[in-house]
Amino acid sequence: MKNLAYTTILASMFAIAAPAQAQFAKPEDAIKYRKAALTVMAAHFGRVGAMVNGRAPFDAKVAQENADVVAAMSKLPWHAFGEGTDRGDTRAKPEIWKEAAKFKEGADKLQAEATKLAAAAKTGNLDNIKAAFGPTASSCKACHDAYRKD
Ligand code: HEC
Repeated sequence: MKNLAYTTILASMFAIAAPAQAQFAKPEDAIKYRKAALTVMAAHFGRVGAMVNGRAPFDAKVAQENADVVAAMSKLPWHAFGEGTDRGDTRAKPEIWKEAAKFKEGADKLQAEATKLAAAAKTGNLDNIKAAFGPTASSCKACHDAYRKD
């Protein structure tokens, strides 16, 4: 019983610590990880976008679920842009490592906008979601224009 409680505590500690401190055995693993996180984020962002653009019927619950995923995923890719991950199967531009503070600003901006988008989705009002969607999409584009190869 004691053992089980200890294991549970340990498991929950790891669950909390993992996103912030995940280490990668190889640079390829970090590149794969960040691309996967960005891909998942984009898929859920696209589902919100479809409702914003009228390509999909508005469903407040679906919008909220997807916006929550975007907000959560928006925190994950950035710690995977470490040393040595500028080469390989990646479209990341070398400027990311030369202008680390500016790149971080872009990532922070996205996280702030995605948090607002999730808050807007909680209101269940499509106009609120539309108002928050644009700035979030602009934060994607601004960073891609500066830091992602075509
Ligand atoms: C702070 C910069 C930054 C922000 C903000 C950002 N991205 Fe990116 N994104 C990148 C970089 C850099 C890459 C290239 C990653 C690589 O190839 O290693 C990328 C790659 C991607 C990819 C391709 C992943 C793959 O499998 O190659 C998608 C999809 C994507 N981003 C979607 C988004 C969406 C959607 C948003 C906004 C909701 C967003 N990104 C916001 C920097 C950013």
